[in-house]
Amino acid sequence: MAEIRFLLNGREVTYVGDPGRSLLTVLREDFDVTGPKQACDGEGECGACAVLLDGEAVRSCLIPVGKVAGRQIITIEGLGSDERLHPLQQAFIEYGAVQCGYCTPGMIISAAALLLRDPRPSRRRILEELGGNLCRCTGYHAIIAAVEAAAAMMRGETPPPPALPYHADGRPYSAPIIGKRLTRVDAVEKVTGRARYAEDIKMPGMLYAAITRSPHPHARVLRIDTTSAERMPGVVKVLTAQDIPGHNDLDDYSLDEHVLAFPGDSVRMIGDAVAVVVAETMEQARAAADAVQVEYEILPHTFDQEEALSPNFPPIHAGGNILDSYEIHFGELEPAMARADLHLETQYETVFLEHSALERETVVGYWDENEVLTLIAGTQEPHWARDFTAWAMGLPPERVRVITPPMGGAFGGKQDPWPVIAGALAAYYVRRPVRLAYTRHESFNASPKRHPYRMRYRIGARRDGTLTGLHLRILANTGAYDSAGRWIPQYALVAGGGPYRWEAVDAVCHAIYTNGPKAGQMRGFGTPQSMFALECTLDELAEQLGMDPLELRLRNALDGQTTTFLGYPPAETFAYRECLESIRPHYQAALAAAEEYNRRHANTPWRRGVGLAGMWYRFGKSGDPRCPAEAELREDGTLAFYFSAPDYGQGTSTVMLQIAAETLGIPVEYLEFVNADTSLTPDSGIQGASRSTYWVGGAVHQAARTLKEQIFAMAARCWRRRRTSSP
Ligand code: FES
Ligand code: FES
Repeated sequence: MAEIRFLLNGREVTYVGDPGRSLLTVLREDFDVTGPKQACDGEGECGACAVLLDGEAVRSCLIPVGKVAGRQIITIEGLGSDERLHPLQQAFIEYGAVQCGYCTPGMIISAAALLLRDPRPSRRRILEELGGNLCRCTGYHAIIAAVEAAAAMMRGETPPPPALPYHADGRPYSAPIIGKRLTRVDAVEKVTGRARYAEDIKMPGMLYAAITRSPHPHARVLRIDTTSAERMPGVVKVLTAQDIPGHNDLDDYSLDEHVLAFPGDSVRMIGDAVAVVVAETMEQARAAADAVQVEYEILPHTFDQEEALSPNFPPIHAGGNILDSYEIHFGELEPAMARADLHLETQYETVFLEHSALERETVVGYWDENEVLTLIAGTQEPHWARDFTAWAMGLPPERVRVITPPMGGAFGGKQDPWPVIAGALAAYYVRRPVRLAYTRHESFNASPKRHPYRMRYRIGARRDGTLTGLHLRILANTGAYDSAGRWIPQYALVAGGGPYRWEAVDAVCHAIYTNGPKAGQMRGFGTPQSMFALECTLDELAEQLGMDPLELRLRNALDGQTTTFLGYPPAETFAYRECLESIRPHYQAALAAAEEYNRRHANTPWRRGVGLAGMWYRFGKSGDPRCPAEAELREDGTLAFYFSAPDYGQGTSTVMLQIAAETLGIPVEYLEFVNADTSLTPDSGIQGASRSTYWVGGAVHQAARTLKEQIFAMAARCWRRRRTSSP
């Protein structure tokens, strides 16, 4: 125990406790200063926890609090305020450097330290200084521009204006609101550290949950002994599969996945869950989760989809190692191949990809005063998560509420309801608020990944580049569980033929179980892998034909008249050919520039090349075509919109208000909104597949239009009454 005094954002504070605890933990848990974030496992890898220590940017996760006695700490909360933003905070807003905002406090603090030392930093210097701060959303360009602009402001200069959105032909947008530069509705709270993400929420009497996970990729659980874990300090509850009050599965989200493995069941991947431990502190919960004793019988494992299919490999699931399959047959393949002058065979392979949202999977669960099990969770699908949680808890859906706070990125990875169910299970029993936050290592092991594909192409083409036949075989690795992987074969094959005319197609895809991490949803679900292989194959073909890659694609591009290999013509909005034509001048300029560079650097090992690839993408999802949103004129005259389009940094809240404001013909500032709370907002459908702006935005537009008509009708009635009643 030690007593440590230091200045925190200009105020003297005293910490009493273990001097070895990290400054980050003390700031967040003891002083409720949650601007500094934790995005790695406190290993100094992400920079999200940066604070100023006597004017120097430091990673607060690496500093024992005992080291800051008598020193001055400034966090993002102390740098500026809503009323008086620091130039960096202002510039981050104006230059669009804030998306999910999870990296933003650390990024701004690191930039502030740089500008304290160097008021005119070069771009290289900015890059070096921010090199340890990871951002998953922005691509860094806007951040660098914002730092340069802030530096100029602080020197009393006028920075260049931020880029404005324009039509492709250079005309500015003419609509009053849509297409105009607009401050994100959540920007100020994100640059000041005021935004409260799930892991920032602290409630009186809150407990912490941790998960006991399998260290083996494949094993049978023989015995689970929780007695020593239950005796550990601070432990409140240890839960296993037998404690699940409803169903120990994820219903139809993931056909074969348990919530927790029970004795006799198998764990099928590293990180598969066996128990949930709840304790007074996070450290106690994690220590006790490690102390749960699980006896395993190790089973053979594979991470390779081909090996999983071999007759000698044992089934990973009772029904065998093929989760699902899909086939597309169009025309007569072998005659089409016979009409070709050239045949090409290729094989391409992709690997598991991790979303790496800076915010890790986090849930805060509690029973509210009406006995509703409430989950504050970074999830892309609050209504789905509610229903799957209700299923697992054996509760009617109306006794479960899911609230989505600001989210630190998702990229498809936060569609998985598992963390919400686990958080709910913990809160269900202890009847106190509980926070479950994955570690980064857990997130890597146990969250869904992008499916690896092994793709074998055999294509035929005539000498003039006309494609004839496509023979395609794809083995998609869905890892240990379904996790929506059963839809993958369809997506893989539709993308696998691309936006091109084929005389005949014979394509088959299997989604295969292995003992890799469960593969699930990731942006562009199922599509980029096949597009990558197809476009590389077309480049190989162009090379063999001695043909320009753009001309090869133009020769075969679908247009509105063609029947696709799916058996129907493309939608009327399809304009792949026009798209290719429009890039032609840019492509040719890039080729000329590369040639010039290579000529000038002929005596060096460096060369430049130009890449070209096309794609088509299945937008939206099948299922319930309804997509409701609601609009309200409140008694106090405010206008409010209710919809479910969780904002994980892509800006859906702002977009919906833009649409509403444009429809109503009033400024965005006049509007209020509630987004993604299952007790307050309608189920606007899934948040993914690039559908939100079109579908939910369409619903918001209709709600706004209906409300406007009703307001006008009411105003007309009032006006008539006044006129008829006036003397
Ligand atoms: S660097 Fe400190 S939490 Fe990642
Ligand atoms: S805005 Fe940087 S991680 Fe999201």
